[in-house]
Amino acid sequence: MTSLKAFAIASAVASVMLPVASLADGTVEVLHWWTSGGEAKAVGELKSAFEAQGGTWVDSPIAGGGGDAAMTALRARVVAGNPPSAVQLKGPGIQEWAQQGDLADINDVATSGKWDSVLPPVLATIMKYKGDYVAAPVNIHRVDWIWANPQLLAKVGVTAAPTTWDEFNAVADKLKAAGITPLANGSDPWQDLTLWDVIALGVGGPDFYKKAIIDLDPAQLTGDTMIKVFDQMRRMRGYVDAGYAGRSWDLATRMVMNGEAAMQIMGDWAKGEFAAAGKAPGKDFLCWPAPNQGGYILNSDSFAFFKVTGADKIKGQKVLAGLVMAPDFQRAFNLAKGSIPARTDVPLDGFDTCAQKSHEDLLAAISGDKLVPSLSQEMAISRSYRGEFLDVVTQFYNSDMSSADAVRQLAAAVARVKAQ
Ligand code: GAL
Repeated sequence: MTSLKAFAIASAVASVMLPVASLADGTVEVLHWWTSGGEAKAVGELKSAFEAQGGTWVDSPIAGGGGDAAMTALRARVVAGNPPSAVQLKGPGIQEWAQQGDLADINDVATSGKWDSVLPPVLATIMKYKGDYVAAPVNIHRVDWIWANPQLLAKVGVTAAPTTWDEFNAVADKLKAAGITPLANGSDPWQDLTLWDVIALGVGGPDFYKKAIIDLDPAQLTGDTMIKVFDQMRRMRGYVDAGYAGRSWDLATRMVMNGEAAMQIMGDWAKGEFAAAGKAPGKDFLCWPAPNQGGYILNSDSFAFFKVTGADKIKGQKVLAGLVMAPDFQRAFNLAKGSIPARTDVPLDGFDTCAQKSHEDLLAAISGDKLVPSLSQEMAISRSYRGEFLDVVTQFYNSDMSSADAVRQLAAAVARVKAQ
């Protein structure tokens, strides 16, 4: 054989083999909204783990905390017939996409990984559609936290966490009187709703939260407790500095870090920001559960797998699903993200005191039936209902609307969606 002919044959063989080699490793396009410092570090753990297995990672980040922009981008991709293979998706959103027939099941990965025996039932239920696993959970975030600057609080003699909203207001009033901005908040509607979410639990307690927000009970939506929730929200507006417009949640966290504001009410993804900046809890910042009447607002990130074609992409989805649920990965990811692992069998040694507290309170809330899925973080109700809460709360916060008007508007909006 001439060397030219040998070369031609070798090239032909190589070109036949190449796709086979990449097929073994898989490609995955991941649509997510983890673009802040702490978030990027955490998702970087997943990318590295996937690439370490020889896979090809196509990153599709959509900036905008809370994921509202990402969900709009996702819809456009699906409508165009070109869905990403893996999407950061959660709560009832998973069921909605599955119901439309857009999600692929990953039962083979879940069965061989024994997911049923290592996931808390509350999460396993969310990940399944009609008994099939269509998503894989990566973490448990707690939403009802106050992140506080200990030095600023010491200036007004505060060392203990407020346990009621009246106590919170007393602390904030002291700070304000001392010329310190009590609360860091930005201007995204979802940030306003996060604040409102936490207030609703603290003012009304877990039973109220379930009846008013999950069951959408008209009597609870219009009752005195709901008025009190909006009254407290109005009060919060007075604790925020004038420059809040256009501020993202992580910049608000930075204000607490830099001593420009004393507190932020935000889920523990804020801790990912402190961690990325090398700050330690207890010393550089405090994590206080917000007044919550023994409740716990649950948020959990997960990846759902859209129906795609091509062996390489399907392989990528399965590899990613397995990785997301791998114990070592869940440990590394959650140390960076500020959350705790979704798996119940990952030891928490090496996790900080905030994570330990989150875990302890989670177990207590589960056994006392005081765990509530987060409205603001899309864990509680469908997007159409959540959208009405988002609109009313953000309009209220950014105007001088009365609490009575807000409650009327909210109840009317919920009734409108119900009638559709
Ligand atoms: C949440 C998400 C968190 C965090 C936050 C801010 O919805 O569950 O992981 O990233 O948005 O972007």
